[in-house]
Amino acid sequence: MSGSHQKPGAGAPSRRLEAMPPYMFAELERKVEEKRDAGIDIISLGIGDPDLPTFPHTVEAMQAAVADPANHQYPSNRGRKEFREAVASFYRGSFDVELDVETQIIPALGSKECLYNLCFAFLDPGDVALASDPGYPVYTGGPILAGAEPFLLGLDPDRGFAPDFDSIPEEKLKAARLLFLNYPNNPTGAVVPDGVFDRAIELAREYDFLVVHDNAYSEIVFDGYVAPSFLATPGAFDVGVEVFSLSKGHNMTGWRCGAIVGNSTAIETYWRLKTNVDSGMFEAVQVAGAAALEAPQDEVREMCAIYQRRRDLVVGALRDIGIEAEAPQATIYVWAPVPDGFTSTSFAEHALEEAAVIVSPGSLYGPTGEGFFRISLTTPDEQITEAVERIKENLS
Ligand SMILES: Cc1ncc(COP(=O)(O)O)c(C=O)c1O
Repeated sequence: MSGSHQKPGAGAPSRRLEAMPPYMFAELERKVEEKRDAGIDIISLGIGDPDLPTFPHTVEAMQAAVADPANHQYPSNRGRKEFREAVASFYRGSFDVELDVETQIIPALGSKECLYNLCFAFLDPGDVALASDPGYPVYTGGPILAGAEPFLLGLDPDRGFAPDFDSIPEEKLKAARLLFLNYPNNPTGAVVPDGVFDRAIELAREYDFLVVHDNAYSEIVFDGYVAPSFLATPGAFDVGVEVFSLSKGHNMTGWRCGAIVGNSTAIETYWRLKTNVDSGMFEAVQVAGAAALEAPQDEVREMCAIYQRRRDLVVGALRDIGIEAEAPQATIYVWAPVPDGFTSTSFAEHALEEAAVIVSPGSLYGPTGEGFFRISLTTPDEQITEAVERIKENLS
């Protein structure tokens, strides 16, 4: 043995990995497996992975690009100019945001990679990352793995799931180097409440931290709602970046295609980290990603109409059994309170036992998610319809 601590055995996790929150849903997964083994037809409304295929023009662009030997070598972490230009023109058209192609855009291998690596680019032990709760698990797991501390910032259901900025203790604000926000929001389906981006910018200026806006869902919107970019808020470029992904809006979860845009100093720092970690995005994926962003977005609108119809089916069924679910204006999720007498997990177990339907317990996304469950709309229409029937028949 050397050093001051006992060396763990070969294959044992690092202390940082050991410090990750325990995985609480092993029991639920075990029950799902048991039922499936017993031949029970389980419908999963759990995972947010689009069932619809990537749009044909994107696939065709990929097919041509992958056949071209010029795309077979190491890419650069800066990304192809053509990809960055496509992101810039998409941001101009969709959000009225101007991006400098040379300094304010870098490809990201999906937003998960980017959020995780931002933790390593900006956090040291002793630093704090302010993480919306409920929220995407990387907002807490990333900081822990980077040896820093996540501080959970509760989203208040009574204020449209705005973060409770006033609840952050002064010493946490002083130690904060990152703030993770996400609107349209997973898991709550909330769209950004008025003033939240402005307040985040104000606090970031006062306490010198970087705002990271996770913009994974801006393309999936309903009832005429248009999701803004964080960068459209005055002052956002001074203190923030936005992580954009083609995963959900363009049915490209498997492709690992996104971009980080915004503050050029932060983007340079992220690039510096990335040059030490990976070797960039496959050139052919960049060509296809550019094609996806530059094409007319008609298919995106058709996809939204499909999700909107599914949303209405699900919200209607929940209301029929007395669960007051709000119809979200965006995202692929319906977030609803569990009926009296249930916890998030016990309700998910109940839905599985009684209706053979998987829903996600809200507590999976953080302690503030307790008392809620999430239904994902990414299951084919026939199965959603069947799941809705089962819910109405068995859970009332
Ligand atoms: C809020 C949020 N951020 C990031 C991600 C990761 O997406 P990507 O496929 O771009 O890594 C997800 C995926 O579900 C998400 O919900």
